[in-house]
Amino acid sequence: MITRIDHLGIAVRSLDATIPYYEQALGLKCEHREEVLSQKVRTAFFTVGEVHLELLEPTSPDSPVAKFIEKNGEGVHHVAFASSDIRAQLGQAAAAGCKLIHEQPFEGAAGKLVAFLHPKSTHGVLTEFCAPQAN
Ligand code: CO
Repeated sequence: MITRIDHLGIAVRSLDATIPYYEQALGLKCEHREEVLSQKVRTAFFTVGEVHLELLEPTSPDSPVAKFIEKNGEGVHHVAFASSDIRAQLGQAAAAGCKLIHEQPFEGAAGKLVAFLHPKSTHGVLTEFCAPQAN
């Protein structure tokens, strides 16, 4: 079951160039930075109420985020829904005809289990499900 929006993923060319906007113009605080090797990105996290912002900077030209920026420029990259059961959530989406990018969840940033639905099957929004590692 989806319980809330966990975070919005935002693709940027440079964390160092972008973090000052969120800190100085919006008054938010960067709480955590982490490189996610499996996705070839560096991430920076902010908290806005219950929702997080996940800035994503590609670390390689073949990173999925680098390809996104090449095609669309910087901007909102994905919406992540927290799910109480990520495998059941994937099964429900697949049964409803969605294309899964990942058949099985894998470990993303902050030790959370994550999996993505293809935007061609979700009316244009790259959709992430995430759950605590213990799930
Ligand atoms: Co994410």
